[in-house]
Amino acid sequence: MTNSSFLAGFSFYVPDKILTNKDFEKLVDTSDEWITSRTGISNRHIVEDEACSDLASAASRQAIARSGLVPGDLTHIINATFTPDAFVPNAACVLMEKLDIKGIPAMDVNAACTGFIYGMELARGLCSLHPEAKVLLTASEVVSSRVNLMDRSTGVLFGDGAGACIVSAMPFPANVRSGQILDVILRADGSLSNLLTVKAGGSAHPLRLNDRVGEDFFVQMEGREVFKHAVRSMQGVCLEILKRNNLQPEDIDLFIPHQANIRIIEALAKKMMIQEDKLYINVQDYGNTSAASTPIALAEAWEKGLINSGDTVLLVAFGGGFTWGACLLRFS
Ligand code: ACO
Repeated sequence: MTNSSFLAGFSFYVPDKILTNKDFEKLVDTSDEWITSRTGISNRHIVEDEACSDLASAASRQAIARSGLVPGDLTHIINATFTPDAFVPNAACVLMEKLDIKGIPAMDVNAACTGFIYGMELARGLCSLHPEAKVLLTASEVVSSRVNLMDRSTGVLFGDGAGACIVSAMPFPANVRSGQILDVILRADGSLSNLLTVKAGGSAHPLRLNDRVGEDFFVQMEGREVFKHAVRSMQGVCLEILKRNNLQPEDIDLFIPHQANIRIIEALAKKMMIQEDKLYINVQDYGNTSAASTPIALAEAWEKGLINSGDTVLLVAFGGGFTWGACLLRFS
């Protein structure tokens, strides 16, 4: 048994096609000015013919290579998503076939935008049970498959993409840049589930042969309520994880919040008294990629050299359910 978990191989992938705010001006009654000022989003990447497992596969191959591993070294696959290729098989099983791996457990986890942090805790649990564990943790979303691009109040907010890393019970070799998971806190509140939903096709809202999809096939949300709860819940869980680890906000070297909306990020950073230069923001380039948002931001910050040896990094996310959670990492 071990209580430590290590992670490496931070990688991400987004599809080539970009939808700009100007593109949306041609589709619906909106403007670049409205979208930028209310959300901070300028561009989002949207698939043309790729599925959740394709995005996960591209990010995973890089994560495996960057960790100094080959696919055959993996012991488990966890894929966070609310937009899998299909209900059955799960996207993790499709992913393992694309990576040419057989025989290890492969599962999807759905915690909406908090999925990567939920996956982190599950990977940590597997590491504490299996000293040999090398878990491929991916978060991959084709949100565009469940957003009505013709609905201006939701269509402009989201994008597609995937992030990946390897979580290991044993430290990585010194030549592999890695970090350690110090702590994770997960929370949820099902009483608020109706504020953010994708209902149709689920067993409570089945689609029958020849049914046409309605608005409930796509993301529906009470934007202002989601906004309020997102800020409040993320602040609460950040304060909790800092306190539990005897840290102050100024001890955080890089703060990586879920990239849903610049106004949510700025309100949270202000409440947490996080300085601007310690706050990572890329919502302008990708929109809200749901579960993939935090690992994409982590991998991008890492690629840009913004994470140094000894740094403490705080990830926090919030999403439908509601679910929320925070994760504290220390880099070596
Ligand atoms: N272009 C132009 N006008 C628009 C658009 C658009 N794209 N979208 C909505 N509007 C209009 C509305 O129709 C409304 O018009 P009305 O006053 O004539 O009825 C007006 O703008 C104001 O609408 P609100 O919804 O009140 O606008 P608000 O300032 O709350 O901004 C937004 C909406 C951006 C969705 C905001 O509430 C928000 O960011 N909420 C958080 C939701 C979120 O990020 N969810 C993601 C999933 S959960 C998560 O990841 C945290």
